[in-house]
This record gives sequence, structure tokens and C-alpha cells, in this order.
Amino acid sequence: MLMRSNEPDWDALVDEPSARVSRSVFVDEAIHALEIERIFNRCWLFVGHESEIPNPGDYVTRRMADDHVIVMRGPDARVRVFLNACTHRGVKVCRADSGHARQLICPYHGWTYDTAGHLLTTGFDDFYAGKLDKLALGLKAVAQTDTHGGLIFATFDPQAVSLADYLGDARFYLDTYFNRTPGGMVVLSPPQRWVVPANWKMGALNFGTDNQHLYPTHLGPTAMELLGAPAKAVVAALGASHQVSMSGHSTVNTVLPPDQVIPYCGLHPDLIPLYEQTLSPVQLDILRRNVVTVGNVFPHLAWIQPALDVERSGNAVAGGTLRVWQPLGPHAMELTSWYLAEREASDEWKQKVLEAGVRGFGMSGVFEEDDVDVWSSVNQMCRGRQARAESASFETALNFLPVNDFAGPGTAYYPMLPESVQFNLLRRWKALMRRP
Ligand code: FES
Ligand code: FE
Repeated sequence: MLMRSNEPDWDALVDEPSARVSRSVFVDEAIHALEIERIFNRCWLFVGHESEIPNPGDYVTRRMADDHVIVMRGPDARVRVFLNACTHRGVKVCRADSGHARQLICPYHGWTYDTAGHLLTTGFDDFYAGKLDKLALGLKAVAQTDTHGGLIFATFDPQAVSLADYLGDARFYLDTYFNRTPGGMVVLSPPQRWVVPANWKMGALNFGTDNQHLYPTHLGPTAMELLGAPAKAVVAALGASHQVSMSGHSTVNTVLPPDQVIPYCGLHPDLIPLYEQTLSPVQLDILRRNVVTVGNVFPHLAWIQPALDVERSGNAVAGGTLRVWQPLGPHAMELTSWYLAEREASDEWKQKVLEAGVRGFGMSGVFEEDDVDVWSSVNQMCRGRQARAESASFETALNFLPVNDFAGPGTAYYPMLPESVQFNLLRRWKALMRRP
């Protein structure tokens, strides 16, 4: 790795004048360890959706990088996030992926906690000679927990800015796709979860946003046949759309030119009046002209809403998907994928949205398999010392400056194909990595 004194030489690793990035940032163990400390232990991380735990006592268990947490709705209806480690000896308290509980009982010696994380009993309270401080021995809560539009985030950093400030302009786009009716969105099933042998940044960069890969990677007939808009219209959209950067968060809203708009492509007509009631005029216009959106909230929450015609019926369905790129070391990530639809949608429509989401971008989704193949090959190739010593190119980022003709918030670039927004994600990565 390129070093300056004891610290990696971050400017050499992410070289801004040349827009080249050392391939070691995708494979190096020491860089991965620093990422956990400087990015994942500081940033706000997505841990779940409020509709997964609607009632007091409902919980899901999740990871925040190397740490395991319980996301639980307490007796006061508040969502709390605790380390899933018993305060006695550190044993994993909650073993299920999700469920409902009145109490959490550690399987080792039976320490028992209520749904707000308070220690109720050790089972042997009398043995502490009156010195047992139950208040201090509750499950350890993460430093801050907050929600935006049903999305639950947590951070280990007590000094972190508020969630609203952290998300910044990304709130506008998250609301456009995941908070666009009075009832908000609901998850349609427990999330799918699988391990991908690739670095987490491959996913974050791809969704935030690698637009050049669409045709080369997904050119096979199966993926292209699933698109809900005619391929010609999608090509027109690629040339007519902006990409947007927001302090390392990224999105692209692939909008059709005015003469080719398929209004609300893949969205149910019954829901359109609800969008009109909830969204601002600018958000509504983006949603109306959109055929696919992707985005990434730094570091590792991504979304995608493609309009897909999985039934080959001529009627597209736009499935809303949220996903997390959870690092498991430099060479692997755990991918968790949620499928969501509007609370007000009919059960029949929700089922179609779920099927479209799973078949496009589920564990064995048609697009997913294409993407995972190329991402994981970077890790395979760059384990080699020679390949690792080379750099990755983002040079098309150099030739495009921000434009001011896009109505939504953030720094917009046109068109969506150069690597501008992806490279800005790496700039944010570097800024955080160089801050001990
Ligand atoms: Fe949990 Fe002992 S480790 S009760
Ligand atoms: Fe892809």
C-alpha cells in the first residue's frame, strides 16, 4: 500500500488530478480495518424500515459493519438500537432474524432485559451484596438512532451531525421513491440476505452511479427483455438524464425526453393521485418521467426502482428496492435487500411489485447475477500483487463540470454517463479516511 509515515498516502490512493484510484482500496486488509473505524463507526447506517417492527416488542437483528445489533420497538413505541451482546459476558442475546418478544433472555446465564433494553434480573441478584447497578447494565444502546420517512438509521458516533443534516439533499430523492404517499411505504417480506465475494465499494459505486455498465454488463437478451420501457426509449433516456452528487450520496433519475415520456412508467394508476397529494411539483415531475432510478446513501444504503415487465404482459411494474452493502472484510459483503410498496397499494399490486423486485434484483435476479459476476472478478484479479499495484480509472469524470439546468437539489452533471458522481463518492471516502 502507498504509505506516508504511518498513515496511508490518501492523495496517492485517490488521485484527484488524474481521477485514478489505487486498486488496493478494494482489496487491502489494512484499508478495510481503517474503513470500519473511520467510516462505518462514524457514519449514519441504515438498519431497517419502520414497517418491519410496527408493534411494541417487535424486533429485527442486523449488522452495523462488524457489530451485531437489535433494532427493537420499545413499550413507548420508540425504536431503539442495542448491541446484541449481553452485558454480563458478551454472549449474543437475540438469535432470530426477526420476531416479537416481551423480554430478551440471554441463553448463557439468563440475564433478562425488557424491550427498552433495561436489565430486569440477573437471576442471581442476591449474590451482588446490594451492589448490583441494574441501570448501568442495560443493553448498550448505539450513540444515536433516528428515522427519516420510515427508514431507520443509527450511528456509533455521539458527535455525528443529525440524521437530517447527514442525509441532506438525498432526502428529496429518498422521499420521491420511498415516502411518496400519505401512508408511506411498507416492506413486502423479510429481506433477502446473501454473501457476495466482492468489496462493498463495488456495490456503492455501481449504484452511485455506474451508468456506463448498463449495456455492456446487462446486454444479454434476458435482462434487456425485462425492461418495462422499450430499449430505444431507455437509450434516449441515458442521453437525456442527469446524475446528481450530494456530499458522497449519489443518484440518477433516468427520465425520458418530453416527446417519449411513458407517464409514471411501472406505477399503478390508482396511486398517482396520492403522489400528487404528497410530493412537490419537482419531485412529481421526476417521478412522472422516470423509467429507472438508482442511488446510494453514503456509505452503504442503496436503492433501485426499475420498471420491469417480468410477466412479458406489456405492463411494467416498478419495484422499490432498498439494499445494504455490509462489509465482511475487503473481499466480501453481505447484501441485504428489501422490497417495498406503498401502504395504500392493493395486495395484488404488492405481490407484483415483490415479484418484479426479486426477479430483477433479488439474490438470483437477472440483473443481479450480471452485476455480481463483474464486481467479484475485481477482487479475484486484484488479489494478485501485480494487478493490485495498478490503478482503476475514473477519468471520464475529469471532462464534465456541474450544470445548473436540473431542477432537483444536489450537484448535477450532464449527461448521466461520465464517471463524475462515482468519483465524488470516492472523494467523500478519502475525506473521511484521512480523519483519524
Ligand atoms: Fe449473558 Fe452470562 S453472558 S447471562
Ligand atoms: Fe447493473
